[in-house]
Amino acid sequence: MKRTAISISLAIMIGCASCASNASQKETTDETAPFQEKHRPQIHFSPKEHWMNDPNGMVYYEGEYHLFYQHYPEASVWGPMHWGHAVSEDLVHWEHLPIALYPDSLGYIFSGSAVVDWRNTSGLGTKGNPPLIAFFTYHDPKKEQAHDIRVESQGMAYSSDKGRTWTKYAQNPVLQNPGIGDFRDPKVFWHEPSGKWIMAVTAGQTIRLYGSPDCLNWTYLSDFGEGRGCHDGVWECPDLFPLGVKGSDETKWVLIVNINPGGPAGGSATQYFVGDFDGSSFTSEQEETLWMDHGKDNYAGVTWSDAPNGRRILIGWMNNWQYAGEKPCETWSGAATFPRDLGLVKEDSRYLLVSEPVREIRNLYGETVRIDGTRIEHIVPLSDKISFGKAPIELKLTFGQEEAVGSPASRYGIRLKNGKGEHITIGYDNTDKLFYVDRTNAVGEVFSDKYASLHVCPYTADTPEMEWHLLIDVASVELFAAEGRVVFTNTFYPSTPFDRIELFSEDGTTRLLSGSVTELKSIWDNQ
Ligand code: FRU
Repeated sequence: MKRTAISISLAIMIGCASCASNASQKETTDETAPFQEKHRPQIHFSPKEHWMNDPNGMVYYEGEYHLFYQHYPEASVWGPMHWGHAVSEDLVHWEHLPIALYPDSLGYIFSGSAVVDWRNTSGLGTKGNPPLIAFFTYHDPKKEQAHDIRVESQGMAYSSDKGRTWTKYAQNPVLQNPGIGDFRDPKVFWHEPSGKWIMAVTAGQTIRLYGSPDCLNWTYLSDFGEGRGCHDGVWECPDLFPLGVKGSDETKWVLIVNINPGGPAGGSATQYFVGDFDGSSFTSEQEETLWMDHGKDNYAGVTWSDAPNGRRILIGWMNNWQYAGEKPCETWSGAATFPRDLGLVKEDSRYLLVSEPVREIRNLYGETVRIDGTRIEHIVPLSDKISFGKAPIELKLTFGQEEAVGSPASRYGIRLKNGKGEHITIGYDNTDKLFYVDRTNAVGEVFSDKYASLHVCPYTADTPEMEWHLLIDVASVELFAAEGRVVFTNTFYPSTPFDRIELFSEDGTTRLLSGSVTELKSIWDNQ
């Protein structure tokens, strides 16, 4: 793409309430202090120390959002899996709790889900104090070594004290391996119309459904997936749930299937199918493969059980198996994505999943600076006009079509950079009609040849305005655009922080109609 030198326009007017002097962010950080280490996310959940991968067992109960996660407590690399545990009252501030589940003689504790057994169908609690029940995969290293294909089976544990302590079910596993190599990541939910529990579990390259009256005895129902969607990797971490279609009375079922590798940006990613579920089988007429996120760092995402007000809230692991253990972080490894509310929209005959950051992000809001509308020619710096121009921040930008004056840019967007030439670009390509994220130069030190990459999401903007919503943390940027249809989640690891933000326009001009930058307070301030 040709670049024309266009005069730098500083026509942008930033109404800053209190620039420069009263910067409310800490200017100095102690990189040895917990949660202040280099690259440590400040608005995203991460374990106090050592390894984390998939979020697990998310359930809301008595005012608390529980978040369990794949955890290896001995080192910052993957190892024998435990379930780490944290709780939150608002989905953004987290309290770390002791490890909930340890490996035992049946194996490591792989991914899974948790439910409240409100009717005490399992008999493991009482109606007055219903048990929390966690379903997980036992992954048996002994069988693996012996090349026994039945390495994975489904286990269960229950708690009667709001998830503080857990008892493994004495007759584990509750679901034996039927002779399938990859048989894991049970997601369980209560299906009211058929009056039973449903378990969705990956079974090789399909999602297998089982039913149960009591969480203890499971019967095979059906399989979905052969010849459907992307099969360029292993299917993992499914989720199945109903969602209302925005602006209508229609409800459809969404089947989430994580896959590794095979994602649109390379490596791990999340595909989904929209269809119907009759209590026994999931069916879908969808022909194309649909992806929930076009970035490279959102994997193994599943949703909360029993979230209040019918919300469907998803959180993923902000990482990719292509380089998960190789990042330049030592005391801990891994973080969760920012939690998102999911919705469904219908476009012609297609149903599309849309995501937006949970509204509880407001609990982190500090100062907001308004950005007045302007024409962007070449580059408009933003950060030097803002006292808190460093991550974490939330940016809302509304771009419009350029009118008669000047020719519309071939590409426009936002760039985060440091003084060392490292940067990440989030843009829209007017010629090829796609969103893109270019992080070919977003690390200080190359730790994996799979990291530097350019990711795209085809999208034809057919509205006069386009809103971009960006969450920028110390080591990640999440973009939500086109009303949540376009999502990119990406990490970065520069040698010094990306403390400069600029808007850019290539080969023409772009109209910024309005915008705002909001300071986000660290979620760890009280730790
Ligand atoms: C997905 C996954 C799951 C498995 C877990 C093991 O990232 O491979 O399928 O249960 O991680 O940690």
